[in-house]
Amino acid sequence: MNPYDYADAHREAFLAELETLLRIPSVSTLSEHKGDVHRAAEWFRQHLLDIGMTRAELFETPGHPLVYAEWLGAPGAPTVLVYGHYDVQPVDDPEGQWKSDPFEPVIRGGALYARGATDDKGQTLTQVKAVQSLLENGGMPVNIKFLIEGEEESGSVNLYDFIDNHHDLLRCDVAVISDTHILGKDRPSIVIGLRGMTYLEIEVRGPSHDLHSGSYGGVVHNPAQALVEILAAMHDAQGHITIPGFYDRVQVLTPEQRADLAKNPMSLERLQAETDISEAWGEPEFDLHERIGIRPTLEINGIVGGWTGEGAKTVLPARAMAKVSCRLVPNQNAIEIEKLIADFVAAHTPPTVTSETRVLHRGDWAVVDTDSPYFRAAADAYTFGFGKAPVYMREGGSIPVVASLQRAFDIPVILMGFGLPDDNLHGPNEKFDLECFYSGIRTAIKFYETIGAMH
Ligand code: BES
Ligand code: ZN
Repeated sequence: MNPYDYADAHREAFLAELETLLRIPSVSTLSEHKGDVHRAAEWFRQHLLDIGMTRAELFETPGHPLVYAEWLGAPGAPTVLVYGHYDVQPVDDPEGQWKSDPFEPVIRGGALYARGATDDKGQTLTQVKAVQSLLENGGMPVNIKFLIEGEEESGSVNLYDFIDNHHDLLRCDVAVISDTHILGKDRPSIVIGLRGMTYLEIEVRGPSHDLHSGSYGGVVHNPAQALVEILAAMHDAQGHITIPGFYDRVQVLTPEQRADLAKNPMSLERLQAETDISEAWGEPEFDLHERIGIRPTLEINGIVGGWTGEGAKTVLPARAMAKVSCRLVPNQNAIEIEKLIADFVAAHTPPTVTSETRVLHRGDWAVVDTDSPYFRAAADAYTFGFGKAPVYMREGGSIPVVASLQRAFDIPVILMGFGLPDDNLHGPNEKFDLECFYSGIRTAIKFYETIGAMH
């Protein structure tokens, strides 16, 4: 059988396997799920052996394990490293918006709904199923290595050392990652840029313990108030970041580059449809797609302090804390930005309270080389899989491993995403469109065939 017919004939089986994987609540950031995270790693290890990989093992880290697998039966042919992640985001649902159990996948309207459906279990499995379809039919034209991590959603904190210490194991000619999205099923696209990130915690402390707000309010500076004053000073009214030096290294695009980006604009209508907001926000001198693709941001991800339980409690809290992260763009440097933020917080902390800024994790931005034969093979594969030539776009999200792989091996990295813009990754009712799953498998098979024939 040819691999495409094999993949078509096994749609039901592939879907059932994805459902099994999605039932494992592998939330990497919550320690109560440590066992589940391990189970998801083990599922991938066993599954990769089952599809015919000749080696598959778990590498333990101080955090969650990495899954490594290989099939190196095509001597002389290129070696592809497929990266994916088996961990998922938490399912916290303050607004009660999940329509079904996040860990009991269900199909509605041609899409599979579950946490991790698109990000990144479904997309990673798309690559695995392409490899299986080739292996089962005796036509695997390239060498394959899988590296599937369990800490992507919590900052890949143990991945960088692993890459540094396992150069020989991971050595490859090209890396492929399915963890991004296309613009639409009839608008295939390839991501050519990702933003970087630095993630911080800012804590403000005042009195040694919580106080009665009547006995002490008016004479003790409230740490929650001091914290929001510091945070509020970080943007001006138009959405520019006011931290001195923050924009210093941000690349200024040429008019040609800006015109190029404008070929795939984000429209206010799309933004409204996806988010239900009425007005856009942000730096007015940049278009919406520029604010997402090539401008850095500073975001408050969460803020706590004092009484937030049911009813009222008149308290003056001893401390308040915010989680703050920045999306970084070429040529910003995460460590430099962290220093600028820490200095800003210190300078804006009044003598009435103390503050501390802690870095949780960081990752570099990445720009993809569109000139490599591998990239052209990927573009052709999309044309085959989705019936239309892909456009190129810059994405606002981050996949820190991209820059690490580029640096470690000086190789092209292909962002072969198959999600859709409204898949709701990280939010309620995350989904993966089944057509994207099946067309993605065909696209990946085509890619492997093309690059196998290239050498
Ligand atoms: N799959 C996403 C990256 C992504 C986001 C691609 C949006 C396309 C659109 C990935 O799993 C992710 O969420 N990454 C984190 C990385 C961070 C923790 C360093 C992110 O972007 O927040
Ligand atoms: Zn992801």
